[in-house]
Amino acid sequence: MTSLSTAQTKPANTKSTQTGQNRQAALTVNDAKIEALIKKMTLEEKVAMLHANSAFAAGGIKRLGIPEIMTSDGPHGVRPEQGRDWKGVKGANDAGTYMPTNNTLASTWNPTLGYAYGTVLGSEARFRGKDIILGPGINIVRAPLNGRNFEYMSEDPYLISKMVVGYIRGVQDQGVSASVKHYAANNQEEHRNDIDVEMSERALREIYLPGFKAAVQEGGAHTLMGSYNKFRGQYATENAYLMNTILKGEWGFKGLVISDWGSVHNTMDALRNGTDLEMGTDLALMYKSVDQSAASGGPSASRTIYDQFYLADAALDAIKKDKTLEPLLDDKVRRILRVMYATNMLDGAKRKPGAYNTKEHQATALKVAEEGIVLLKNEGNMLPLKKTVKSIAVIGHNATRENSLGGGSAQVKAKYEITPLQGLKNELGDKVNITYAQGYKIARDQKADPQMIAEAVAAAKAADVVVYVGGSTHGYDYSKWSDNAYDAEGFDKPDMKMPFGQDELIQAVLKANPNTVVVLMGGGPIDVSAWAGQTKSIVEAWYPGMEGGNAIAHVLFGDVNPSGKLPFTFPVKLEDSPAHKLGEYPSTPGNPLKQTYKDDIFVGYRYYDTYNVAPQFAFGHGLSYTTFKYSGLSVTPSGKSATVKLTVTNDGKTAGAEVVQVYVKDEKASVKRPEKELKGFEKVFLKPGESKVVTLTLDQNAFQYYDEGKKQWVLEPGKFDVLVGGSSRDIRLTGNVTL
Ligand code: GLC
Repeated sequence: MTSLSTAQTKPANTKSTQTGQNRQAALTVNDAKIEALIKKMTLEEKVAMLHANSAFAAGGIKRLGIPEIMTSDGPHGVRPEQGRDWKGVKGANDAGTYMPTNNTLASTWNPTLGYAYGTVLGSEARFRGKDIILGPGINIVRAPLNGRNFEYMSEDPYLISKMVVGYIRGVQDQGVSASVKHYAANNQEEHRNDIDVEMSERALREIYLPGFKAAVQEGGAHTLMGSYNKFRGQYATENAYLMNTILKGEWGFKGLVISDWGSVHNTMDALRNGTDLEMGTDLALMYKSVDQSAASGGPSASRTIYDQFYLADAALDAIKKDKTLEPLLDDKVRRILRVMYATNMLDGAKRKPGAYNTKEHQATALKVAEEGIVLLKNEGNMLPLKKTVKSIAVIGHNATRENSLGGGSAQVKAKYEITPLQGLKNELGDKVNITYAQGYKIARDQKADPQMIAEAVAAAKAADVVVYVGGSTHGYDYSKWSDNAYDAEGFDKPDMKMPFGQDELIQAVLKANPNTVVVLMGGGPIDVSAWAGQTKSIVEAWYPGMEGGNAIAHVLFGDVNPSGKLPFTFPVKLEDSPAHKLGEYPSTPGNPLKQTYKDDIFVGYRYYDTYNVAPQFAFGHGLSYTTFKYSGLSVTPSGKSATVKLTVTNDGKTAGAEVVQVYVKDEKASVKRPEKELKGFEKVFLKPGESKVVTLTLDQNAFQYYDEGKKQWVLEPGKFDVLVGGSSRDIRLTGNVTL
């Protein structure tokens, strides 16, 4: 650890990604035409624009040549056709590219891949005739048990900000609108529809908003999805503070706020507080209320459930009674038309055709998986495995499990899905004897099965090497929503333990053959403490998409040198997590519909490092088959910014990529600040012996905190440490700067 003071005098060429411009301005270029169009509309036509008319479509005014807006899930692939009534569409061409999940993308720490990823999603959504794709999901991974962590990116707002911008631009450059979700503070599935979240203004500004702000201002997101939960007593989707004051006020958002499905609860709140497009309601509610209303002599059956939405007949009546509400209506229609113009839906604008299941899309899926897989442990360099190995026992249900239809609304019908076992067979052909033992069953309340363990142990004993593939799952039977569990929408995990008796199985397999590599699949941190100490090599493969099996094989056999880094901390045990230790997860004791985020800004490594709680695996951690040397750090102040410069060398034998991470620590502040905060990173690809000079600009945002009294960000003068390394707990060089 060398600590260097600032050396340089001339400012290095700073490569700032902060263009400073707000990309929302682009959405207003057609406002004159939009005003003319609005003037032609009747009140009924305007209101018809504000709400769904079927499961995933909305609006449309034939008389004026305004088409319906067609939406579709989800964040890592275009969902199978749901039809206009959730019943699906027989024979639809809807088996497509199944990308790795959003947390796998985040684990690449490669913003360029974010753009490539968004390009695939946008192109496939266009091909499928969609105008809005309902992704990315960027809620903070605060609680290890949150069922939807697989759909989100990270515990750190800066990493999210850098990864989400490329994704959105990639989608929108294909002529489709992204829908960043779920705004805001939707960090768990437990009571997601009605829990009321409280948090400090500092936690909101420093942790929970920055990803959304970057998505809006740098990404230029056309739409944002309001979330189900309440925020400070008001439903998030119709929340004056979140939608009017912050999103449309401070951030200058010009696009539309789409509700989550059934997340609107009050006509006047929705009219006044920024809901522009009400989607939703679920199947049961839909059919029930139409029957009820018809039976009870309510609006006649010809008035569908969609006319009973809060922004439908009720809104029309309210505006007829109070004309002063009409400008609110016009603003919503204006925003919807802006998004329609921006996605070339009007004036006969030419639209990109999109493409489906192309080799390029599948290659991108493979690339993201290869760069997103994280090598957590590799004692004695057991990995990479040699292709001259004679026999391999593949053990574990996840080795043959297909995941694409799991997880809930994020489901994808994959054109194909290479399982880990198939990937190993593709890699090794018939040169190696590969045996398989399922080892455990994925079923509700499934315990360790002695018979299956015995079979797995026998296979392990008979092989040179064991590849264990286990971890979490999206649920049991993916075809049944009610079977969702673990990494799935609508439910939080029951605990953080390896499910289905895997701890016992893994320990038996390790005893039978120490040459075992454990490959984990899943969407969040998982408790590996029972066997991690006895395991030479551990790999985290997340849900790596349709090419996942090939990506895993490429990493295990060294065709690819792993470069993934954890986007969130793996605690040793659940009780160590700040959401449980300091926070009130899942809710305030005695009040299941309320929760105060008492962990405040101390989320993830901000907690573990400040409160000295050792994690199982740290935020930003990820090993390589080569090694990297850090040298020559200089930190040069200029005004309220600083330029960080250092050299990284690949001093190992194989080419590889390192994510150089830059953390900032405020040595003294008038408020309690985290031990360190990520404020810069760069992924560098280096051949053996190659060096690269990395130059990063830390602008004033890197040093400021949010002052609740002044209601603004402040840069308190003083000394700041700059910590540089390959993970939040592998700091190689430190410098400092006084501002
Ligand atoms: C779901 C999800 C949301 C999804 C929407 C449409 O409830 O919360 O992410 O896009 O409804 O399926």
